[in-house]
Amino acid sequence: MNPQLINLVWLLSLTVVFVASEASFLLHKADILIYNDLNVGTDLTLHCKSKNNDLGVHILGYRNHFEFKFRPQFWGNTLFFCRMQWNGTSHRFDIYEQNRDIRHCNRCLWNVSLKGPCMLNYKTSNFGFGGNRKLLFSSVLVAANMNPQLINMVWLLSLTVLFVASEASFLLHKADILIYNDLNFGTKLTVHCKSKNNDLGVHILGYRNHFEFKFRPQFWGNTLFFCRMQWNGTSHRFDIYEQNRDIRHCNRCLWNVSLKGPCMLNYKTSKYDICYPWNAGS
Ligand SMILES: *[C@@H]1O[C@H](CO)[C@@H](O)[C@H](O)[C@H]1NC(C)=O
Ligand SMILES: *[C@@H]1O[C@H](CO)[C@@H](O)[C@H](O)[C@H]1NC(C)=O
Ligand SMILES: *[C@@H]1O[C@H](CO)[C@@H](O)[C@H](O)[C@H]1NC(C)=O
Ligand SMILES: *[C@@H]1O[C@H](CO)[C@@H](O)[C@H](O)[C@H]1NC(C)=O
Repeated sequence: MNPQLINLVWLLSLTVVFVASEASFLLHKADILIYNDLNVGTDLTLHCKSKNNDLGVHILGYRNHFEFKFRPQFWGNTLFFCRMQWNGTSHRFDIYEQNRDIRHCNRCLWNVSLKGPCMLNYKTSNFGFGGNRKLLFSSVLVAANMNPQLINMVWLLSLTVLFVASEASFLLHKADILIYNDLNFGTKLTVHCKSKNNDLGVHILGYRNHFEFKFRPQFWGNTLFFCRMQWNGTSHRFDIYEQNRDIRHCNRCLWNVSLKGPCMLNYKTSKYDICYPWNAGS
């Protein structure tokens, strides 16, 4: 597996997950229901607004309700406020204040009684927080009541886990280089490979023998391994691994050293047909 491809796939997956999470948030709507529980024969006159919306005047008979939906802002504090009137009494109330309500409800059910406005508490299934009267609202509502900030947090956590996992899989990844002596019968190949920080020592390979080494390519950077290759008084230098050149071809890079020069196995054709000249001046 080509590690740059793996990284690309991870980046794409992250993007897809992120876009999906944003889309699910953008599709999310909050739902506000206001229930008239004043008393028999008392109409509740309701007029709700936000900074940009006027929801109009609604007159609710006893035990009737008014409902509206909107999309909370992603970054921000959506506010809806209502004028509530009955029998000459008039009150103003912030029916939805994002920072206050988002942890309580996605579907916010309000009961307006003479005690004032009380919201359904999905944890207790009571209106208000001191109430003791069980409501008929089904637990389906509780399940439907997903807190969007929680959803976002879960997504962020998933993204982090995915990212750490992808990094870990990259860090665990090793490249593998194999050098095969295919000069000719009876000709020994002397190989001496190094990188900036590593000296892999001198290895003398009989005909059709090989030398193999492994290392971790750098995440950001261009790992380079170069070798001195000698036989019968001939001496060449060759960059056996140059990350930018090779990473798209192989993770396990198999080299055949013949009199024609060094050729690498092409996994697409199954032939040693990726050939390079020896380094200049060697
Ligand atoms: C409002 O007025 C009506 C008619 O007078 C009365 O029946 C009702 O109880 C009053 N409601 C409240 C909440 O005071
Ligand atoms: C609304 O609140 C009042 C006062 O707390 C309560 O008596 C009534 O039962 C509540 N309505 C519903 C539908 O629970
Ligand atoms: C290297 O020298 C050996 C012994 O003289 C000879 O058999 C072999 O063919 C030579 N190899 C090459 C690649 O010239
Ligand atoms: C190595 O390359 C030589 C020259 O192209 C070729 O004759 C030989 O078959 C190759 N070795 C392998 C193992 O494919």
